[in-house]
Amino acid sequence: MKTFISPDYQQLSEAVAKNVIDCVNAKPNALICIAGGDTPLGVFAALVEAQKQGRVDFSQTQFLGLDEWLGLGKADKGSCREMVWSHFFDKLTLRDEQICFFDGLTDSPQAECQRVDGYIAQHGPIDCIVLGIGMNGHIGFNEPGASLNNTCHVIDLDPITQTVSVKYFGTARDVKQGISLGLKTILAAENIVLMASGEKKADIVAQTVNALASNAIPSTLVKTAKRAALYVDKAAASAL
Ligand code: F6R
Repeated sequence: MKTFISPDYQQLSEAVAKNVIDCVNAKPNALICIAGGDTPLGVFAALVEAQKQGRVDFSQTQFLGLDEWLGLGKADKGSCREMVWSHFFDKLTLRDEQICFFDGLTDSPQAECQRVDGYIAQHGPIDCIVLGIGMNGHIGFNEPGASLNNTCHVIDLDPITQTVSVKYFGTARDVKQGISLGLKTILAAENIVLMASGEKKADIVAQTVNALASNAIPSTLVKTAKRAALYVDKAAASAL
């Protein structure tokens, strides 16, 4: 896996955005999946700016959500839906049918998994996926120990993920489960961008690079994919 180190978060975000833009310019109806969370916020801003400047056209692009907290919807600050819409989708002019995103408020998580798997069967594989890295090495909500055979599924969240989640919600919320694309779907993507920023990610970034690929640290599995790259800023690369 190639590693690209940018001097700061801004340049990191622009480098990852360029990767997505190149993908869409080569294939206008590409299926793109970008994580929620804090890491890609600069990428969203760079992509919105690129569309404004006419450097990319998302009018044919399909967007797939990576994951969601079960029980949370768009009205919940810090949900994946709230973050991705407010920083990205609301700033582009997209048609509803261009977006497939988990409904965290669903009454039937299993049916929701089947719906999203059906969408992927129709539109997939994913052409470009941008993943953050959890403090425990999770990708999407594929926590340590996750099965490599999983497609969309419901997950009991790791205690570390539950603790970290407070930063999104501004307050402790009772989120015990998530719904996520599985490792099988993620690792089948044509192009995987693993992205991390800041000193707090330095240790897990070093583990991702140095440890053998195994589901004990899901981010290491990206190294087994056919085309994958790690994009980090200097701070996140500081333990490499
Ligand atoms: C969010 C997601 C998570 C995050 C990861 C890093 O949709 O899938 O895997 O990418 O937890 O979170 P941040 O970017 O907030 O550090």
